[in-house]
Amino acid sequence: MRIGILTISDRAAQGIYEDESGPALRVLIEKHFGEDVDLTFIVPDNFSAIKAALIKWCDDAHLDLILTTGGTGFAPRDVTPEATQQVIERQAPGLVQAMLAASLQKTPHAMLSRMVAGIRGHTLIVNLPGSPKAACENLAVILPAIPHAIQLLRGTAGDQHAYENPADEEIRKRDLAGE
Ligand code: MTE
Repeated sequence: MRIGILTISDRAAQGIYEDESGPALRVLIEKHFGEDVDLTFIVPDNFSAIKAALIKWCDDAHLDLILTTGGTGFAPRDVTPEATQQVIERQAPGLVQAMLAASLQKTPHAMLSRMVAGIRGHTLIVNLPGSPKAACENLAVILPAIPHAIQLLRGTAGDQHAYENPADEEIRKRDLAGE
């Protein structure tokens, strides 16, 4: 599994404070899967910077999973969900619903997260909140479903067809774009 963690925070990007959520998520991933995270990066709460980083990791680095942390709340600079929406081709609402349901058992403030999850090509992108505690609580909910999700995206789950012919994938992309 190839995984990237994108921290989205003005202050962490400027070095005003140290990123704690990215490393906390990394520890959780490594503990759960026994695998290292492939890429980590910090960008400010800037729509274009978030979008560019996500597209690069999907289209050039071909990651299986991208976790973002931060910028999902109601503050004026919180634009992670909007940038993610522009990058994904298909929504994955079940992941968000599962995280929200579990998080509401912990705090009513969970309803203030506008997290988005979705798929671009063969990459799953999941938004997580910004604090290390909230990010890890949410990730822990979806971890059991991640390996199967990635198998399905790669077409190796054994119960569905992969796009063996690249032309088929082009047709799917055009269908999604409504062309
Ligand atoms: N989810 C869990 N499980 N635990 C939490 O402590 N904090 C919430 C929410 N989700 C929280 C949580 C809070 S206080 C906010 S404002 C939103 O996530 C959005 O966080 P973000 O703006 O840092 O992304």
